[in-house]
Amino acid sequence: MKLAFRTPAKINLGLQVFRKREDGYHELETLLQMVSLYDDMELESRPQGIELECDVAEIPRDGSNLAIKAARLLQKTYPDRRDLGARIRLTKRIPAGGGLGGGSGNAAGALLGLNVLWDLGLDREKLLSLAAQLGSDVPFFLFAASALGRGRGERLYPLQPAKKFNVVLVNPRFPIATSWVYGSLKLELTKRENNISILRQFYSKSDVARLGAHLHNDLEPVVLQGYPVIQVIKDRLRSLGAKGSLLSGSGSTVFGVFDDPGVAENACSQLSKQGNWDLFFTETIDNLAEFFPEEMLNYPQFGA
Ligand code: C5P
Repeated sequence: MKLAFRTPAKINLGLQVFRKREDGYHELETLLQMVSLYDDMELESRPQGIELECDVAEIPRDGSNLAIKAARLLQKTYPDRRDLGARIRLTKRIPAGGGLGGGSGNAAGALLGLNVLWDLGLDREKLLSLAAQLGSDVPFFLFAASALGRGRGERLYPLQPAKKFNVVLVNPRFPIATSWVYGSLKLELTKRENNISILRQFYSKSDVARLGAHLHNDLEPVVLQGYPVIQVIKDRLRSLGAKGSLLSGSGSTVFGVFDDPGVAENACSQLSKQGNWDLFFTETIDNLAEFFPEEMLNYPQFGA
């Protein structure tokens, strides 16, 4: 049996860090939004063993790959089942180490897909808890197209999706390690007032102009210090008509939000002339069913 589907990218329209926790993670609040840049994923059940094929050389094919980690975590959850094998095929479009959650989306896709292929019958609560063990961003990818994340980002609250708007992604073709960014963060320099609740109001009104003016990421100053090109990209996006531009998560991708598709398309083609940046013209996603087949979203909703 085979399943083929897409796993999307995310951006953080807002990210505020409050404090460092005892477990080393940071307590934060973030507004997460899926966008229409996808990896292709294919899962095929096999008698045993987990294999991964991927078209991009830099993506690890061993146990450090989040999709493989997801499959192994499911195997571990069912130690008595000896028939849990799979071949995973990935066609990557989402840049790795880009702050777009590509690997996290792959992991969520593997959890949902293997739940069907291996007939595990895991419910929503269990899937979310397994996802949180794999990474802070993984639960979001099986939760909703837009959400508020608290805790280390894994405690989620759904948001009514805003009217679709265009997002141009600019990746400077280098990855940034999330752990380095959090490790270099000087918390005393981050702003104290709650920016995310303001952002949420403009989001719920689909007011892209004001949303753009209030985009905020506490991790951005850290990355700007180490990589000045991020500021150059932000400024270019604004001068080409973006209502706001921001680093996504811990970077390296910068995004611009637009309230006019023509302006967004023009910005994208102008910036692609730069030659050394990767450009992606996307729009926001408002429903998980846009990319996950119905059978993958048909898991039991409540604890069995
Ligand atoms: O959860 P995930 O594996 O994606 O996190 C990667 C790294 O990012 C963590 O090891 C930690 O250094 C940092 N992080 C953090 N606080 C968060 C999320 C991530 O410090 N809320």
